Amino acid sequence: MKFAQTLTLAAGLGLSVFASLATPAAADTKIGFIVKQPEEPWFQDEWKFADRAGAEHGFDVVKIGATDGEQLLAAINNLAAQGAEGFVVCTPDVNLGPAIVATANAAGLKVMTVDDRLVDASGNAIESVPHMGISAYKIGQGVGEAIAGEIAARGWDVSKTGAIRVTYEQLPTAVDRVSGATEALVASGFPEDMIFNAPQTRTDTESALNAATIVMNQHPDIKHWVAYGLNDEAVLGAVRAAESAGIGADSVIGVGIGGAASAINEFNKPDATGFYGTIMISPLRHGYETALNMYNWVANDQEPEMLILTSGSLATRDDYKQVMSDLGIQ
Ligand code: GLA
Repeated sequence: MKFAQTLTLAAGLGLSVFASLATPAAADTKIGFIVKQPEEPWFQDEWKFADRAGAEHGFDVVKIGATDGEQLLAAINNLAAQGAEGFVVCTPDVNLGPAIVATANAAGLKVMTVDDRLVDASGNAIESVPHMGISAYKIGQGVGEAIAGEIAARGWDVSKTGAIRVTYEQLPTAVDRVSGATEALVASGFPEDMIFNAPQTRTDTESALNAATIVMNQHPDIKHWVAYGLNDEAVLGAVRAAESAGIGADSVIGVGIGGAASAINEFNKPDATGFYGTIMISPLRHGYETALNMYNWVANDQEPEMLILTSGSLATRDDYKQVMSDLGIQ
């Protein structure tokens, strides 16, 4: 009845039928955007751009932080109770994959992942869930190449330089990023036996700081350090550890991945720190595009691409504003 009335009215007013039909549907649509670490600037940016997509395309984004599995499954049910039709998620634990899919199905919600891809009980990616992540290995290689370039620019003797590899083995994208960086560094001539693992227990700065401090304490003779890991926070942890050990910025080369506020704050400090650069990735694509894709899926029955891997660009203190403007994220 309502449909017929809309048609009649639209025809009577000489309006486009499609436009007038699209509007009420758009205003009604609600999607969720759940992230594992709401305090991390990267996720704040994803939310900001998801909101922008909602404002520009006429749908609501319910933003929920879920730092463990219990919170995450509760969030999915909560979204269903609120009338959401689907959600984008960066899970606190990729092994929750089967539980997330089952809970979403039971609640009648569509699900897409961002950043961290779900795995099944055997550790294989769940390919039936659409995903947008970064080209982790390639971006990692960019980190390794940037470090190697800066080692050469500073004229360091690599045989006396240590590398802190901040690792987080339970997350496949972290493993891929760090492997790419290691391989590029080794390919540049960096000795493998001077690369030391600093396993972090969580993906934040404090945890990386603790892990890196242990490595530095074990090698008090090493005066030049480079550092890499999953994201900017991991590298900042290593940089802070070096500072606490009294190692100056000119003796540290850290290159992160991300480019959100944690990195920008560092570049904005009056004096350069050991955080030399970051491979800047796009929260615009990961926030705006995933939200819009989910909206188009639930509201317009348009299925998203199953796998999108985004790229990154090196940004340093000297050029980060230009890189941000090239990515359209300023
Ligand atoms: C993971 C990391 C985040 C960020 C995203 C980008 O989720 O934990 O810090 O790097 O990947 O995809």
